[in-house]
Amino acid sequence: MKISVPKGTKDILPEEMASWRKVEGLYTDVMLNAGYGEIRIPVFEYTELFDRGVGDTTDIVQKEMYTFEDKGGRSLTLRPEGTAGIARSYIENGMSSLPQPVKLFYKITAYRYENVQKGRYREFNQMGAEIIGADSPNADVELISILGNFFGKLGIGDLRLEINSIGCNVCRPAYNELLRDYYKDRIEGMCSDCKRRYETNPLRLIDCKEEKCLEASRDVPYITDNLCEDCASHFSNVKTGLDRLDIEYNVNKQIVRGLDYYKKTVFEFVSANVGTQGTVCGGGRYDGLIDSLGGSDAPGVGFSMGTERLMMELESRKLLPSDERSPEIYFVTVGEKPYAYARKISCALRKADIYSEMDLLGRSVKAQMKDANRKNAKYVVVMGEEEISQNKAEILVMETGERKDVSLDSIYKRIVEKKV
Ligand code: HAM
Repeated sequence: MKISVPKGTKDILPEEMASWRKVEGLYTDVMLNAGYGEIRIPVFEYTELFDRGVGDTTDIVQKEMYTFEDKGGRSLTLRPEGTAGIARSYIENGMSSLPQPVKLFYKITAYRYENVQKGRYREFNQMGAEIIGADSPNADVELISILGNFFGKLGIGDLRLEINSIGCNVCRPAYNELLRDYYKDRIEGMCSDCKRRYETNPLRLIDCKEEKCLEASRDVPYITDNLCEDCASHFSNVKTGLDRLDIEYNVNKQIVRGLDYYKKTVFEFVSANVGTQGTVCGGGRYDGLIDSLGGSDAPGVGFSMGTERLMMELESRKLLPSDERSPEIYFVTVGEKPYAYARKISCALRKADIYSEMDLLGRSVKAQMKDANRKNAKYVVVMGEEEISQNKAEILVMETGERKDVSLDSIYKRIVEKKV
């Protein structure tokens, strides 16, 4: 019986990894050039971190977490996202005593028990960044502008940016009352998720995608129109900051995001190519998160993009970058001695960071040549017993078909002296 991968997971094979390496490498460069330090956090954390961090009224915590008890009876959960773990790490590693703000980026896998469909998996990858310790709208603008830069480098700088503000602890309670009042006579006809959220998190009723709920929300008052002075001024400054950088955006009052920690700015980059939800990247401000996890009152803002969705976007536009390599030199050998000699040179080449290839299957010269062609080798060096005894080898320039005899000593010397 064959065993397949678990539902919602997949292998990323070498030919795809060529694009992943390029995209993740570009992301790393972009973040390092903006002064962000890379962080790695554990795949699993104590469940309580996500209950309190992501929020126990969210779909993620209520329905989607991979939670298990370890042999010591502790409740652990595979991270459904990175922000909560990074907030924990900020507190645990005393990062509040570092010069503020602390700017971090990451590339992680995340796990959510979701309905699997196009662009929605149970194990997926995220590339993200967080700024902790800056409450200025400039931090929100910086992150969005970095994303614009990154998408531009990939050739998808035209992804649609949607922004909104969802208020804070000052304006949210009064707005929640306004919402409950609005939905009071409508909630009966709405879905069970909305009924559940009516008391605990009425903000989420606004972005329910069920037909009957969309209809019920048609005339809903938006928090964007009910912000306190501080939130309104923050939002206005974010918009001014984006305008100054000529970054196009659309204020979408329906964006509320699915995680409880968000306050003030929220944003998404969306596209029609990445599945029903269309979100390539989501982020926002989470002032109060560090505090709620037992740390200082450091504010925070960040984003993450789904790497698989980003790849889908690039693929649908035929813009997938490649990091395929081809051998500089392919050694075609006949006999044990030539093989051993070629192996020695090949090792020296690899040590000098030059890609060289050799046969591992004892193949015929013809089959080795075919392999060199398939791998798109630049030069083929042919060595047999006779060549070795005469201290020479034949070099074939694959592009032109030109052939030359060279002395083995000269090849070896040039490599060892790094004059290759
Ligand atoms: P999120 O919106 O839950 O936010 O996820 C961010 C991105 O991860 C989404 O826009 C999407 O591209 C990708 N994603 C989410 N779920 C899946 C899935 N099941 N399959 C494939 N891709 C998926 C967060 O995770 C926040 N931590 C973002 C953030 C960072 N906010 C502040 N800092």
